[in-house]
Amino acid sequence: MEHIRVEYLNGVATLTIDRPKALNAINTQVFHELAQALDEIAVSDAGCLIIRGGGKKAFVAGADIAEMSTMTPAQALEFSRLATSIFKKVERFPLPTIAAVCGYALGGGCELAMTCDIRIVSDTVVFSQPEAGLGITPGFGGTQRLPLLVGVSRAKEILFTGRQVKADEALKIGLCSHIYPVDVLFYAAQQMAEKIAANPPNAIRATKMALNESFSSSLDACLPAENLIFASCFGKPEQIEKMDAFLNKRK
Ligand code: CAA
Repeated sequence: MEHIRVEYLNGVATLTIDRPKALNAINTQVFHELAQALDEIAVSDAGCLIIRGGGKKAFVAGADIAEMSTMTPAQALEFSRLATSIFKKVERFPLPTIAAVCGYALGGGCELAMTCDIRIVSDTVVFSQPEAGLGITPGFGGTQRLPLLVGVSRAKEILFTGRQVKADEALKIGLCSHIYPVDVLFYAAQQMAEKIAANPPNAIRATKMALNESFSSSLDACLPAENLIFASCFGKPEQIEKMDAFLNKRK
């Protein structure tokens, strides 16, 4: 695997998305590697999974805009469906998952963090769903999972404005459960994960399954609509111009 690293320590697996040239942005290759890594961890003897980005500047800076910029609606639908299936795999992963979110968690990065069971963040964290500014909608579950965490009205405000949500606000609105200094975050994630992994695995897995029951049927019903709506934004002048502007560093 080129962009995903998996390490094991004291009953905890850590999966790192490491693509520094694009601030860990997720492209099709990263999705496939993510799926492969999850399959490997699922049959290991780990009792908890930490997901993080390589380095301290970004957790994940979103879906890969260079890859998306030339997509047709049909290709965007395929991309969004791939993302949805792999993010569901994260959400329903048999082990508890902790997103250790350091720095930028934008678009697909925020969406990946929201598929994890627990989010703990650095004091430098920047969450945002900036898709509107790119002429598209979130396509990896953001329209469905953000309101589950922060409420419908606040989710709409965050999605419509595309504004940044920093650590203190993220804690206040329920987007994360703890804030740590940037140099402590990954140590704190490991400590929390070891505590979880020390509990009887069957009880933890059963608790997660029971909790997920409360929202999984509504997600199953609604995520396909998000995929279609996301795809319908592609090929339109505003999507083409906004993504080109980002890639060519224009306003
Ligand atoms: N896709 C592809 N490349 C990206 C990227 C992304 N999402 N985010 C950053 N990069 C690349 C940049 O193009 C740049 O590459 P070059 O050095 O080759 O020019 C490199 O990473 C470093 O980025 P910057 O030079 O822009 O770094 P910065 O410190 O000036 O800014 C940033 C950092 C604010 C995160 C800025 O990179 C940024 O705004 N990135 C885009 C974030 C974004 O819009 N994400 C959402 C994508 S849409 C999505 O995810 C929706 C979905 O549901 C499908």
